[in-house]
Amino acid sequence: MKFYLETYGCQMNVSDSELVASILLGAGWEIASGIDEADLILFNTCSVRKHAEDRVLGRISNEKHRKLVKPELKIAVLGCMAQRMGKRLLETGTGVDYVVGVDQYQELPALLNQESGLDTEFDFQQIYPGLRPLHQDKTCAYVTITRGCDNFCSYCIVPYVRGRERSVDFGQIVSEVRECGDKGLKDITLLGQNVNSYIWGDYNFPRLLRELNQVESIYRLRFITSHPKDLSDGLIEAMAGCDKVCEHIHLPLQSGSNRVLEAMNRKYSIEDYLLLVNKLRAAMPEIALTTDLIAGFPGESESDFEQTFQAMREIQYDHAFCFKYSEREGTTARGYPNQVPEAERLARLQRMIDQQREITLGKFSAQIGKKVEVYVESLSKKSDQKVSGKTRDYKIAVLSGSVSDIGNLKTAKVIQATAGTLICE
Ligand code: 5AD
Ligand code: SF4
Repeated sequence: MKFYLETYGCQMNVSDSELVASILLGAGWEIASGIDEADLILFNTCSVRKHAEDRVLGRISNEKHRKLVKPELKIAVLGCMAQRMGKRLLETGTGVDYVVGVDQYQELPALLNQESGLDTEFDFQQIYPGLRPLHQDKTCAYVTITRGCDNFCSYCIVPYVRGRERSVDFGQIVSEVRECGDKGLKDITLLGQNVNSYIWGDYNFPRLLRELNQVESIYRLRFITSHPKDLSDGLIEAMAGCDKVCEHIHLPLQSGSNRVLEAMNRKYSIEDYLLLVNKLRAAMPEIALTTDLIAGFPGESESDFEQTFQAMREIQYDHAFCFKYSEREGTTARGYPNQVPEAERLARLQRMIDQQREITLGKFSAQIGKKVEVYVESLSKKSDQKVSGKTRDYKIAVLSGSVSDIGNLKTAKVIQATAGTLICE
């Protein structure tokens, strides 16, 4: 029996899908080479914005016709939407046979022995001990270090669909990272909704980084996501002091207005945030900063928005993921008065995207003439005489090379730049 797994949403979902693949292979399933060959189609889903949910519902609806010609075909929904919508997804007409929440993937093989089923119990202890994800990539790996989130930002559904925050066993993380390195996956990204609050016995996040920095078989360490309220001086010191920790931090700002930050329950001010940026840049002058920003949060006035716009100019992010605020059922911001009209949200989002494109181009262009270290990940999509990889500060770089360069570090000089790629020699 063969499965086909489609993943939506964040890196945590990508990593969870690798876990699910490993669980299914362990139970005797095989990976289908394409959706046509599948006996089971799984959708690992995202609930963070309505748009993400609509896309998946559309995809499921597009694929359910396959059951007409292959009646034994099954469809499963996993992840955040499974958790949020539960049995509503099993209602007649959806085509969905199984709904499995984020903490119940180990139960999946047993559930698949039934005709259909639902398992969305929360297990506040669940960290999938002892399981190894089936890494899809040959050069880079995600390693989950925390699951869930306790921050309850007022717009965000994650704490409701991923449950309480828990940290993965320190020993398990170290051995997983070591195994990745031994297998040739040398660029490791540690994952968690808020990695900064990792805690396992005496090990906090800076101590975990220092420990992982000793793993000889890896070249690079990265982590996402950091919450500004938990970014300690100790962490900045550890980042600067660990040679494998890359010069990049993803530090979601969300808004540049203190009034909005307060309504978002973010627990820092723009002044706190700017101080952090200064400290990071003082400790690591070459550090790249990326962020998440929300346009049109309830009550956001034109002047609040201007403050975000201004903060973007001041901070000069290398990249910003800009989102239009999306009401999510059950979150506190959904009931806030003064929801910003949709057209205004869109207009503000567009202004953010346009401004960031210019800043990003400036940032990438500023690299021209510099020497960068590139970890080669693949052949370039455009030419088999070229290879593509990432710099330490998380920029895509393209340079001459061949298959034999994949998995190696190369030093290259940047000769040209677009707002997404460094062209090197
Ligand atoms: N609307 C818009 N953006 C959101 N995000 C989270 N929830 C929402 C929402 N309801 C964004 C935040 C977060 C990123 C992963 O998604 O910016 O950092
Ligand atoms: Fe959502 Fe805030 Fe938790 Fe990030 S920190 S997952 S935005 S609640």
